[in-house]
Amino acid sequence: MDLGLEGRRALIVGGSQGIGFATAQLMAQEGAELALASRSAEKLARAATDIGGARTIPCDVTEAAAGDALVAGIDGWDGLDILVTAQGGSIRSAFADLSDADWQANYEYNVLSNVRAIRALLPALERGRDPAIVLLGAASSRMPYPHQVASNVHKAGLLALTKTLAGELAERGIRFNCVAPGRTLTPLWTNRAAKMSAEEGRSEEAVLEEFSRDIPLRRFGQPEEVAAMVVWMASARASYMTGQTVNVDGGIARGLL
Ligand SMILES: NC(=O)c1ccc[n+]([C@@H]2O[C@H](COP(=O)([O-])OP(=O)(O)OC[C@H]3O[C@@H](n4cnc5c(N)ncnc54)[C@H](OP(=O)(O)O)[C@@H]3O)[C@@H](O)[C@H]2O)c1
Repeated sequence: MDLGLEGRRALIVGGSQGIGFATAQLMAQEGAELALASRSAEKLARAATDIGGARTIPCDVTEAAAGDALVAGIDGWDGLDILVTAQGGSIRSAFADLSDADWQANYEYNVLSNVRAIRALLPALERGRDPAIVLLGAASSRMPYPHQVASNVHKAGLLALTKTLAGELAERGIRFNCVAPGRTLTPLWTNRAAKMSAEEGRSEEAVLEEFSRDIPLRRFGQPEEVAAMVVWMASARASYMTGQTVNVDGGIARGLL
């Protein structure tokens, strides 16, 4: 199946590692031109080299100035065809231990960062060819995980953002969808497993094995398995899809909807 990505211009926020990087790799293989954004210039440079070349945009999307940095980073493209926002994450904590600052920081990381990136890049997307936005949500938006109340709330907000904004963006010719991963083996999880292993005196493998038990497919996902859906949703093959959130989660979210 030809995804029609040859020569299309794609900006991936959170493209330096994990699911964002796997998405960049697949898009580069399909002939897309890439721009990668994240905080670390070093990680970005490595990622750009690994995929055979890309623009790099060091910026922190939890800061208001990030919008201008993203727009400046694609200067000269005269239009953007694909925007993927792959930053985000959870805090594992009991509700009683979460401060206002924790809630605020998690909201900025998971929700406001997406709002800012999309708003700043709307004019460029409107000038793009068959423009599409794909954001990364989480399976927890449909099946909240224990001890992750802040991100459960904020990722559920992305379901509403996707559905609400898709209507408004359709009027501007832009499709807008969301991919909701389950547990996926990226630095987000390898770092968490290392921390829990040190705190609990057991191996990282034992931590990961425990978290695999309630996944029907009995294993973590690989970043490429999630990225494949992101790339497809961003492609012209998904031309009649907008406002949808699709889980790629090994079956962990057991709700009917
Ligand atoms: N992995 C999972 O199990 C899982 C499960 C459910 C949902 N998800 C969602 O899937 C998405 C991708 O997850 P992942 O596992 O690939 O995450 P990850 O390994 O933590 O990667 C996050 C990416 O975002 C960048 N980033 C982090 N903070 C940033 C900031 N403030 N400004 C700009 N860039 C920033 C990071 O690079 P820098 O460090 O250079 O900034 C990195 O490129 C997230 O939305 C996550 O919530 C993942």
